[in-house]
Amino acid sequence: VGEASQGGFDALIAADQRIEPRDAMPEKYRETLIRQIAQHAHSEIIGMQPEGNWITRAPSLRRKAILIAKVQDEAGHGLYLYSAAETLGVDRAELLDRLHDGKQKYSSIFNYPTLTWADCGAIGWLVDGAAIMNQVPLCRCSYGPYARAMIRVCKEESFHQRQGFEILWTLMRGTEAQQAMAQDAADRWWWPALAMFGPPDTGEAAKGGGHTEQSMAWGIKRFANDDLRQKFVDMMVPQADKLGIVLPDPDLRWNEERGHYDFGEIDWDEFWRVLRGDGPCNAERIEHRRSAHEEGAWVREAATAYAAKQASRRQE
Ligand code: 3HC
Repeated sequence: VGEASQGGFDALIAADQRIEPRDAMPEKYRETLIRQIAQHAHSEIIGMQPEGNWITRAPSLRRKAILIAKVQDEAGHGLYLYSAAETLGVDRAELLDRLHDGKQKYSSIFNYPTLTWADCGAIGWLVDGAAIMNQVPLCRCSYGPYARAMIRVCKEESFHQRQGFEILWTLMRGTEAQQAMAQDAADRWWWPALAMFGPPDTGEAAKGGGHTEQSMAWGIKRFANDDLRQKFVDMMVPQADKLGIVLPDPDLRWNEERGHYDFGEIDWDEFWRVLRGDGPCNAERIEHRRSAHEEGAWVREAATAYAAKQASRRQE
């Protein structure tokens, strides 16, 4: 952007006003938003897979109906987010190509398997819980279309979290085997859920590549990764107690001085390994996504033909 436009952009950011698609913006700001919004959109649609795996096996008709609605909500979130990214001048077909070619990421969390029904509870409770903690501040993101998309997404995520809690609540009041299943799911999802907030913003594990400082200066991110992670731990400990679930961290304890829970070290080597493509389900997730995309080609073609027909009728 030119000097005058840069001044306009800086003034809007300083006044905590929204940047809209037609406003001038620095190229790096635009690129950062495309990266984050696309990664977020990809996470929503890849995130349909772990729970989609349980639709045919949900334990009752009611659970099945809720799960279908939930997975469908994730598809909807993907659509709002791809639309928000498109306002920055990219095409969603191109973003999907970048996902399929491994050039853009999706959240680390969705590379873990859903082994039992209790995993649907743990995902709702922990993963959607972490998603809300991370996404509520994004409703105040400096980029208008992203901020507005997040409002509805957060409302739906909070319903998702409660349904996950309720699945675990029911299991924890069931047979011993059901309680063990709920505990096992929490054991497996707790640490990957903490890693979802991203690497620490400073120190060795940050690998020197953190975007937080710049993104906070631009009002894209409102909190550092570690601050959101701490808020999440503080929110979840009392909920685990209510459920009767023991969180799998011997170092988890209230720190009176800090006014927060202390917690153990996250395995950042595992996080970076998963990001490099070496998690339990990376290959399966991308393979499934690619084949769903190919099998859906006829739907996109039909929709495009229909839109062209409607447009030509309007011209007549
Ligand atoms: N999974 C995969 N990659 C991650 C990650 C994660 N959990 N956390 C961080 N990273 C990547 C970043 O993309 C960045 O990679 P790059 O430099 O190669 O682009 C690198 O690790 C360093 O991380 P930073 O913290 O510096 O990166 P960001 O500033 O982008 O912050 C973020 C990461 C906090 C995840 C931020 O992008 C964000 O808030 N994104 C929006 C929320 C989102 O994407 N959520 C997805 C999961 S929740 C969900 O999909 C809902 C569910 O219900 C389906």
